[in-house]
Amino acid sequence: LSTIEVNLQPIAVGQAVTVKWRGKPVFIRHRTEAEIKEAEAVPMSQLPDPETDNKRVTDTAKKVRPEWLIMIGVCTHLGCVPLGNKAGDPKGEFGGWFCPCHGSSYDTSGRIRKGPAPKNLVVPDYLFTSDALVRIG
Ligand code: FES
Repeated sequence: LSTIEVNLQPIAVGQAVTVKWRGKPVFIRHRTEAEIKEAEAVPMSQLPDPETDNKRVTDTAKKVRPEWLIMIGVCTHLGCVPLGNKAGDPKGEFGGWFCPCHGSSYDTSGRIRKGPAPKNLVVPDYLFTSDALVRIG
């Protein structure tokens, strides 16, 4: 399918789910206040691939919902699926995701912070079609 619609209602604060879109895993994390604050506080100078958190949580209609982080779950190094989406997964040094293949660590905005991956986890186009629904693609 070129687009999918996901119901966000069952995803509790602090939880994440993985959905499939165009054959790839898409991570949807319902971020906590602490995760949002942490992501917003990082100075651009500390980011290998500088991008504001705000930009990463804005839909295609320019609606900003910082509690929802939506990204392609594919490491930008060599394409492994990072850990950090399931309860009990290691989240890496920066509280986001950790790629077990060669040790890249992503922060709570999915931005690369340490390790060989050159780029942030990719944010696809998405649109909140209602309070509880998001369309990806
Ligand atoms: Fe993720 Fe190499 S594929 S660190």
